[in-house]
Amino acid sequence: MNYFHYKDSELWCEEVPVSMIARDVGTPLYLYSYRTIERHFNVFDEAFAPVPHIICFSVKANSNIAILSMLAGMGGGVDIVSGGELYRALLAGVNPGKIVYSGVGKRVDEIRYAIESDILMFNVESEQELEVINACAGELRRKARISLRVNPDVDPMTHPHISTGLKENKFGIDINKSRYQYRRARELEHLDIVGVDCHIGSQITEMSPFLDALDRLTNLIRCLRKDGIDIRYLDLGGGLGITYKEETPPHPTEYAEEIIRRTKDIDCTLVFEPGRVVIGNAGILVSEVLYTKVSSEKHFVIVDAGMNDLIRPSLYGSYHAIQPVVEKSDDHFDADIVGPICESGDYLARKRTIPRFERGDLLAVMSAGAYGFTMASNYNSRPRVAEVLVKDDRYYVIRRRETYGDIVKGEAIPSFFAGVNG
Ligand code: LLP
Repeated sequence: MNYFHYKDSELWCEEVPVSMIARDVGTPLYLYSYRTIERHFNVFDEAFAPVPHIICFSVKANSNIAILSMLAGMGGGVDIVSGGELYRALLAGVNPGKIVYSGVGKRVDEIRYAIESDILMFNVESEQELEVINACAGELRRKARISLRVNPDVDPMTHPHISTGLKENKFGIDINKSRYQYRRARELEHLDIVGVDCHIGSQITEMSPFLDALDRLTNLIRCLRKDGIDIRYLDLGGGLGITYKEETPPHPTEYAEEIIRRTKDIDCTLVFEPGRVVIGNAGILVSEVLYTKVSSEKHFVIVDAGMNDLIRPSLYGSYHAIQPVVEKSDDHFDADIVGPICESGDYLARKRTIPRFERGDLLAVMSAGAYGFTMASNYNSRPRVAEVLVKDDRYYVIRRRETYGDIVKGEAIPSFFAGVNG
């Protein structure tokens, strides 16, 4: 069952026509399908049902508190990388006992906030970070639970910008040095070592990188146990890819079967940090065609969503399917779909065969639920767009469109300017 579907030539999200929401809320807007998110989460969760596990949704993929609250209600935890993400997660009602904190650059204030919130564990990425967390925990008279994020040096075979588990990447601690680091960590009295973690990259469409990483982690766990360090959590990170165009990533069930098979004797709670696979194909960006024009034989469709709203095409050359919200005719042309931003790199699609859109038409940029709104900015002083969640035959605005006032919120003109300008 596809929750974005055509009925009488119109695109619907669940039981609501997309054009109706666009008319009510305005464009551009992000639109998410509740039932799709629910299904994606459940497929993942049920696949691991035979073993103890926690699914910690990666907040960076989509941080709207309504989405986080929904996933928390389904038993999910979260993977965070900043104090801001922790704030959102707690506000959304996520159980702190299901929050893991990753990231190479955690600040002292963020570490303290996480310790005070009693999160499940820090995924520590350097020796210095270990010492800082230990010091913070000591000051707070608490113990901080930690795992080391090891860098297993496997090639995830994905886009270089989103590959993280290779030796040359900044992430994690070299797996070959990790046994020594664990012994060091054991000497720090305010730390409680509980896990081993890795995250090798994102949009991974093959099984083998995950399995290579997993085998290295399970070996490490066995070695650590020999050293008397008891590991209770094995966190394999996120990274499972989705279909944007013709990719055929492993299905979560297939992924789970292999992982369960290889961790049978390891006696750990498995932790996963999926982002994209839960939310990517559960969201679209709806935009209106402002103008069309032809220059040097090239067609441009100029729409009201730009790279500030969805940066993935400009930043990574990512492919997002473009579909009409109302199918009008079979007449197609080749065009670039571009935004209003003053940069040549501002495009949503290039050299794409698309319906012959006209001014006023609505189009849907598909698979935009992950790393869409979260990577949006106010560049060119454009208010960030509205986010809407559809469930069955109703829709809910889960983030209102920003106003011009929101854009300048927090800015201040120094008082002495009055004299200068007046
Ligand atoms: N855990 C950690 C530590 C991560 O760094 C990430 C993503 C995830 C989990 C979630 O990965 P996922 O399941 O979503 O693949 N902006 C890029 C993606 C960057 C991913 C960064 N880390 C994009 O738009 O493709």
